[in-house]
Amino acid sequence: MASLILGSRSYSAWSGRSLVLGVVGSGDTVSVQASAALPKATAKHLEAVLPALDVSAKVAATAILPAVPGLKADKVVLVGLGSDEAGDGSTDALRRAAGAAVRAAGTGSVALALPHADEVRLGAIAEGAVGGAYTFTAHKSAADESGDREITVFSDLGRKASPHDVLERAATVARHVGWARDLVNTPPNLLYPQSFTEQVQQVAKASSGKLTVKVLDEKALAEGGFGGIVGVGQGSTRPPRIVTLSYTPRSRKVPHVALVGKGITFDTGGVCIKPAAGMLTMKSDMAGAASVAATVVAAAELGLPVAVTGYLCLAENMPGGNAQRPGDVVTMRNGTTVEIIDTDAEGRMVLADGMALAAESGPDEILDVATLTGACVVALGPKIFGVMGNDENLRTAITSASERADEPSWPLPLPADLRSGLDSAVADIAHKGDRTGGALTAGLFLQEFAKDAKGENIPWAHLDIAGPSFNEGSAWGHVPKGGTGVAVGTLLEHIAGLG
Ligand code: BES
Ligand code: MN
Ligand code: ZN
Repeated sequence: MASLILGSRSYSAWSGRSLVLGVVGSGDTVSVQASAALPKATAKHLEAVLPALDVSAKVAATAILPAVPGLKADKVVLVGLGSDEAGDGSTDALRRAAGAAVRAAGTGSVALALPHADEVRLGAIAEGAVGGAYTFTAHKSAADESGDREITVFSDLGRKASPHDVLERAATVARHVGWARDLVNTPPNLLYPQSFTEQVQQVAKASSGKLTVKVLDEKALAEGGFGGIVGVGQGSTRPPRIVTLSYTPRSRKVPHVALVGKGITFDTGGVCIKPAAGMLTMKSDMAGAASVAATVVAAAELGLPVAVTGYLCLAENMPGGNAQRPGDVVTMRNGTTVEIIDTDAEGRMVLADGMALAAESGPDEILDVATLTGACVVALGPKIFGVMGNDENLRTAITSASERADEPSWPLPLPADLRSGLDSAVADIAHKGDRTGGALTAGLFLQEFAKDAKGENIPWAHLDIAGPSFNEGSAWGHVPKGGTGVAVGTLLEHIAGLG
């Protein structure tokens, strides 16, 4: 885990391994920008060498210079911040650039002296830097401490801007994003419903009373009438769980948000088994639950004035001898009967039970987070998550929180016309419709469970993170290969905005 420190005095006197400076401009007219003016000797040297180096101001492009006059660091990492003349672009550019620079710097201590106009940008630099330092080496035999880095961030905002607090918040957010990434990256033979549950229990225990955990095991789920998650989990020898993780702030009169996370620790598809290629990344099918868990813990640590309850719907979707079949009818927690069409559409079944449970506590809003459909990835690509819901204001609040968190999302509709695709001849509803509009019919199915006991809608938004939760390509900016921890930033932004 990287540590984050606020730089004291001047970055020119910092004598660690790699110092990061920014490059702004376009084409041949690029210049180096830092959080404070460059020392004269440094400016002169850079002016002389830059033209020969093809240094680019393209966001997150990097170049490395050894032993720069006027600076004490062993080497300088130049990172592109875009064409903005002020040298202080969007938070997104700074976040990516910080992450890319820390990665390009390699091992050892790193300091960032990037220009930033305000606290929000300082926070983006800090979060991006820690994000870029992330590694997952738990299962490498050779000792690897490459992730344990000291990261110093220089700011010239002055004490009024309370840069200390900004960095502290950034460190908390980044640490929990890192936990979500770790959970996603953990191999599926090691992370299964019970082991996931134990990790959450440990974290809650260490929170000195800020967090409480309640676990429904397979027996409690069966007795409680959670037919959706019981059905999904019954093909595995490792039984399902619903873990309720709650944070309640001291002040009583606060909004209450329920977060429901899809936690399929491995999705084989069940008896409607996936082809091998489609299964390869399915250890990441619990990314929604990971992000929900990380968000609740982070909200508690940040002391946000909002009550947050996470419902982690944990199951392994396996094709064992007792596995669910297409044609089965199950009864959900809220009494709805569902005809199983395709055992690979398991996410909505575990979520619907989780949402019904969440609804029982009368929250002001329900947000579910799920790697739900390949269709959403087809629609929005690998970097953008889809947002659906029964309340336009809430949906818009989520897409704008996602913008502030630099986690891109886009609204998708829930067309009432498609609801008839879920009609069943034998049960109240089928869990799957036509192949077309697959992300939307999944959303329409979930919508049925965002209701209170009287059948009135509870404001609800659905985040389909199937694309951006797992990076199958190479690392970019602050985002590593593998688990990304997406949605933690968005959820925290949204929740902080409610308080
Ligand atoms: N976990 C998958 C969705 C998924 C696909 C996540 C690709 C990440 C990357 C989900 O359980 C699933 O299998 N969905 C099916 C739904 C279908 C059977 C209605 C899908 O998308 O094909
Ligand atoms: Mn599936
Ligand atoms: Zn799945």
